[in-house]
Amino acid sequence: MNACATAILEEYPDIVFSYGFSDEYSFVFKKTSKFYQRRASKLLSLIVSFFSSVYVMKWKEYFPEKELKYPPSFHSRAIGCASKEVLQAYLAWRQNDCHLNNLHDTCLWMLIKGGESESEAQKLLKGTQKQHKNELLFQKFHINYKNLPAMYRQGSCIFKTEVEENVKYNENGTPVKRLRRKARIVHSENIAGKKFWNEHLSLLKEVGGFTEDVEKIKPEFVRSFQFENKLMPSTWIVIRIDGCHFHRFSEVHEFEKPNDKQALNLMNSCAVAVLEEIQDIIFTYGVSDEYSFVLKKDSQFYQRRASEIVSVTVSFFSSMYVMKWKEFFPQKELKYPPSFDGRVVCYPSSKILLDYLAWRQVDCHINNQYNTCFWMLVKKKGKSKSEAQHYLKGTQAQEKNELLIKEFGIDYNELEIMFRQGSLAFWQKEDKNMPHESKGSVQNSHKKVIVEHCDIIKPNFWEAHPSILDENLPIS
Ligand code: GTP
Ligand code: MG
Repeated sequence: MNACATAILEEYPDIVFSYGFSDEYSFVFKKTSKFYQRRASKLLSLIVSFFSSVYVMKWKEYFPEKELKYPPSFHSRAIGCASKEVLQAYLAWRQNDCHLNNLHDTCLWMLIKGGESESEAQKLLKGTQKQHKNELLFQKFHINYKNLPAMYRQGSCIFKTEVEENVKYNENGTPVKRLRRKARIVHSENIAGKKFWNEHLSLLKEVGGFTEDVEKIKPEFVRSFQFENKLMPSTWIVIRIDGCHFHRFSEVHEFEKPNDKQALNLMNSCAVAVLEEIQDIIFTYGVSDEYSFVLKKDSQFYQRRASEIVSVTVSFFSSMYVMKWKEFFPQKELKYPPSFDGRVVCYPSSKILLDYLAWRQVDCHINNQYNTCFWMLVKKKGKSKSEAQHYLKGTQAQEKNELLIKEFGIDYNELEIMFRQGSLAFWQKEDKNMPHESKGSVQNSHKKVIVEHCDIIKPNFWEAHPSILDENLPIS
């Protein structure tokens, strides 16, 4: 967790402080940050996506002997702290939770290791105060709580400090030093205290000093600043995720241009996994580096809270992408963690939902046709990228098709259907009596996810598959 948080601080320069314990981490952006115009959905999805990718990539470093059995996912939310004091109250609250949880869990596990059953141990601890727990640890198990590792008791802070580093050596062998900002992990008793905050120059500079200590932890006060957006009831919820800077990602990983079949198959495979994981998603449509997931109209997934829905989807997808990379690119190393951003939109009727999907499919078609012409001109005619761009400027669809036929003997409509129409994944009912392989075991299942490439703009497709939009599709 700390290594992933460090990677986040190195990736996003606007983050000035972070604090984490157990399975959670908080990242504080500087007050003046203009990152993605401060759009909450962008920030919380990118951070959670990058964190998830790094987690999977780093797993082997920390657990060389343990296999990562399934993709981890995290959910995230944004809190706008109205003042330094709110931030201070927030940090005090999180660190208090860290302390209370750790003290409780230390007692619980000592009791269990000492022979109590889990429920018995829970009962013994119910309602006990901090003092009582400290005494229990000391008297029964000879543990002085204060001597336990600081990371467990106090959590971890990460922030950047200036350190002097040798950047090179002069001809005469003397080192040339520079000041570099490096992320540093610190454990401290009271991270929201004046003393801690004011003795770190970089925190004083980036956030400002604290003038008072926190007297009383006020979780409700902090929660009142939480960005909480509940989506309108009885509407189709669409979560669209999109690869962040995939132009660069596809260059670095030498994806075939304009379409890399394996890269698209990897995206499809992750989308299928999301469908299988989040049961309220009824179908999903993807092209290039984006995927749209459609939740059933009456879904109560995370009580329709936008940030939770978008973050958990993007996080699971990102973890899966990294986990499955080797399966699709056995010869290629994943050079850096990919990240996806996510947003969520509600559509009030299936007609408008289908308009949305048509928009995405038209986009797929326009981009693919353009990119096919562009790369043929570059690859086969030796044009520079700007020449190819100039050549295609203002051309209509018909002209592009003619160019492909006349110059390159390519019938656009004969190109791979996945490139032209994108991919749709949805649940299909199966014959009840037909056993099939699922997650390694043979079982009778009522439905499975299939991937198709088809025209979703024409009504014929939807008429032929009425169950896709039927919110009451039974989930077995
Ligand atoms: P942001 O989404 O704004 O962060 O930028 P982006 O670089 O991801 O661009 P955008 O999402 O608009 O477009 C996706 C980009 O991914 C394309 O422009 C391509 O450069 C790249 N890409 C997606 N699929 C493929 C592929 O199959 N092959 C190759 N070579 N590139 C691809
Ligand atoms: Mg993108």
